[in-house]
Amino acid sequence: MAIEIIATGRATPPRRISNAELAEKISTSDEWIRSHTGIGSRYIADEQTATSDLALQAAINTLSLALERKTVQEHSLEELALTLDMIIIGTVSPDYYGFPSTACLVQHGLGALNAGAMDISAACSGFVYGLETASGLLCMRQSRKRALVMGAEVLSRLVDWDDRGTCILFGDGAGAALIEKRPDGKEKRGLLQTVLRADGSGAQSLVIQRGGSRNPYRRGEIIDTPPHVQMDGRAVYNFAVKAVTEIVDKLLALEGIGIDAVKWIVPHQANARIVAAAGKRLGIPAEKFFLNIESYANTSAASIPIALDELNRREEIRTGDIIMTIGFGGGLTYGGNLIKW
Ligand code: UT7
Repeated sequence: MAIEIIATGRATPPRRISNAELAEKISTSDEWIRSHTGIGSRYIADEQTATSDLALQAAINTLSLALERKTVQEHSLEELALTLDMIIIGTVSPDYYGFPSTACLVQHGLGALNAGAMDISAACSGFVYGLETASGLLCMRQSRKRALVMGAEVLSRLVDWDDRGTCILFGDGAGAALIEKRPDGKEKRGLLQTVLRADGSGAQSLVIQRGGSRNPYRRGEIIDTPPHVQMDGRAVYNFAVKAVTEIVDKLLALEGIGIDAVKWIVPHQANARIVAAAGKRLGIPAEKFFLNIESYANTSAASIPIALDELNRREEIRTGDIIMTIGFGGGLTYGGNLIKW
């Protein structure tokens, strides 16, 4: 069986904040942010918008593209939503902690009455993990055919806006891919390979310390800052360069192909310098990596599906192209997918 991506979508909040605008509020500069990360701006949600709102919009945009490009036979969004067997969302900024999952909120919003729904907690690798999980679920049962795999985040609510070392890095957004199980054709297509890895020994280098069962807020406690991302930037940087290098090598070896066979490497958009350093180590030209961090900053689990959607809508991915995704982030988690479009 082949698992193919038959549509993609994305959504961002309307407000885009430039580095210069940030520099009016915190002690930083456009020059520092650009030279250390490659980020030029980020989208930030208003107070009324939660992760499921962006996720639902990205889901609707995805199903609409499937209808528009006629990659499905259904004629309306409602009809198409009813064919979904599973909705999976990678997120570390769910609407609610614990439950309900963000995926359940999207399932209700779409009217996907025949779908199971759950979130995946794999931080910035959430989409990579989600694609493999959904693919496995579709292949397990003959009756399952379609799934919506998403990454969605409102990280602006999980950063300490007084910590210039982290708050400048993140942005809000959601991305999605509609996947379908199809019989194998003459040529091998769809999701070719996936590698999933974790290194829990680095758990404390990227962590939200407060609010969970390890370190809960206590009755009567005066809370100065909401739960927020704490990061040992240097440690995560070194891990990320190693992770990208390892995953590229592993995916190519598993499929038995060289890098020339790959049209695009779509890495998690955390820092353009990470990608440049890994590319240099691997001897892969920079043009092979798709980067849109300049506009979006780091949207965690959403960054890969947002990038895939940009490429897909610009028709810079065509049928038969091989795409490699690479995720890395909190956990620490990392991994990648090799997809023949
Ligand atoms: O998606 C999750 C995965 N996360 C990542 O992949 C992030 C990985 N880490 C990184 O991308 C980089 O480590 C950062 C971009 C976070 C930091 O870059 P860096 O080159 O490691 O900078 P640094 O933390 O070593 O700081 C260098 C200097 C410090 O000043 P001093 O001590 O040298 O005087 C910082 O205080 O830059 C200062 N600094 C800033 N200056 C202006 C830190 N943040 C800022 C800022 N604006 N926003």
